[in-house]
Parts: sequence; structure tokens; C-alpha cells
Amino acid sequence: MKLLRRLFRVVTAVFPAAGQGRRMNVGSNKVFLNLVGKPILVHTLQRFSRSKNIDHLVVVVAAEDVSFVRNLLKAVPGLKPYQVVAGGSERQYSIANGLAVVPENSDVVLVHDAARPLIGVETIDRVVAGAREIGGAIAAVPEKNTVKVVGEDGIVKETPPRKKLWEVQTPQGFRKDILLEAYRKAAEDGFLGTDDSSLVERLGVPVKVVEGDYCNIKVTTPEDLLIAEAFLQKQRQGCVD
Ligand code: CTP
Ligand code: MG
Repeated sequence: MKLLRRLFRVVTAVFPAAGQGRRMNVGSNKVFLNLVGKPILVHTLQRFSRSKNIDHLVVVVAAEDVSFVRNLLKAVPGLKPYQVVAGGSERQYSIANGLAVVPENSDVVLVHDAARPLIGVETIDRVVAGAREIGGAIAAVPEKNTVKVVGEDGIVKETPPRKKLWEVQTPQGFRKDILLEAYRKAAEDGFLGTDDSSLVERLGVPVKVVEGDYCNIKVTTPEDLLIAEAFLQKQRQGCVD
């Protein structure tokens, strides 16, 4: 019975990896940089492959990298079944291309930045459970800093109470029908968001925040490489899960 249910309820994770990594300043896509001997992208895919709740991976890379990545992944042990497809000029367009090949029998789809190689398996599982439960769930951590809204003139406009602020990460997971509708509507309206949840929020669908983890950083600027390498070397010691 459990097996039958699983056959009809597949969870797919889409990995946008088609950026240029401009802020990393190395002249190539940061997701191919080695951390502790393996490309960032490989760390990320192996972490997801360790979750029993993930069935299928969709890796979205720049069109010119598709065959390189297919070859790279052939030699990687322990990966869940995967597809590699070409992305677009914006993160949102890359994910849209990934969504186009998500297996029909997926009921939940997660989106996770390939540039977050430190994701914990328990966070993945919480996002899947939250997405099943209410339709949408995102990993987040309480904001540690005071954040200000600043006008274009450089003058502070507002100081939102920190208690209300959460730093949003990926994975972000949704029932497939909700996520596809959110992407359809965003394309129709010409809306470009900085995360997937913002597209779903526009539908008026509730999105639940689940516990993320401060180790789950997005490798964005050069110092992030040092931080990520330290976490990996210590096997995420001190991280929440
Ligand atoms: N991404 C993508 N397609 C794009 C842009 C970004 O798939 N057109 C992916 C990146 O590869 C990354 C994730 O989205 O895994 C998060 O984006 P970000 O950290 O901004 O990466 P880059 O866009 O590559 O970096 P930068 O903004 O510094 O150029
Ligand atoms: Mg970017």
C-alpha cells in the first residue's frame, strides 16, 4: 500500500544552477567551484539524494553547460534519478524551464538554489511535510540583524520590528498545481520575483515558514566560500540538523 502510494506521489526537486555567479567574481559559474574536493552543485545534489522524501532531481544549467554537466553527474555516486535541462537569463526563467520537465506524477515540487550546498536533510523533510500539509512551505531563520527600509535618498524610512523578520532560504516547496499556476500567472503579469514564494503569495495561497538552519548559506560572495568550506570540513558541526 505504502509503495503504491509512493508511486503516485513523487516529490521532485528543481535546482536552478544557470546563473553567472557575478558577485563571486571568478569569471565562471560559482556552482562548479570545488569545495572540499567536489563542485558545489555536486554537494547540493548529494545532500538532496540523502532525503528519503525526494524522488527525482531536475538540474537547470546554462545551455552551453548541459552536456558538460550530464558528463560530470554520470560519475557521481548516490544520486536520485535526475534530468539536466537548459535555463534562462533570470533565475525565475531557469526554474520555469525546470518546471516544464517535472514528472507528471509529482504531487510536490521543491525549488532549491544549487548554490546552497549546506542544506540539512531535516530541513528538506520539513519543507516537504509543510508543502503537503498546507500547499506551500519555505525554510527560514529568524533575522539576527536589525533591518532598515531606506529610501533612494539614503535616508532611513522605517525600522521593521526584528521579531517579525525572517531570513528566507531555499528549499521552498509547493503542491505542483499551485506552483505551476503561480509561474503561469507571473509570466502573464510580467512579474519577476526574487523567490518562488513571492509568486505563490500573489495567488493568495498561504505559505508556511518552517525551521531552516543558519548553516544553509547561499554561496554568493568570495568570503562565503571560506565559511562554506569550514562548515563542510566540520561536517556541519553546530548546525541545527
Ligand atoms: N540562477 C539560475 N539562472 C539564472 C540566474 C541564477 O539558475 N539566470 C541560479 C544560480 O545558479 C544560483 C541560484 O539561481 O544557484 C541563486 O542565484 P544567485 O545566488 O543570484 O546566483 P547567480 O545569479 O549565479 O550569482 P550573481 O547574482 O552573483 O550573478
Ligand atoms: Mg543572481
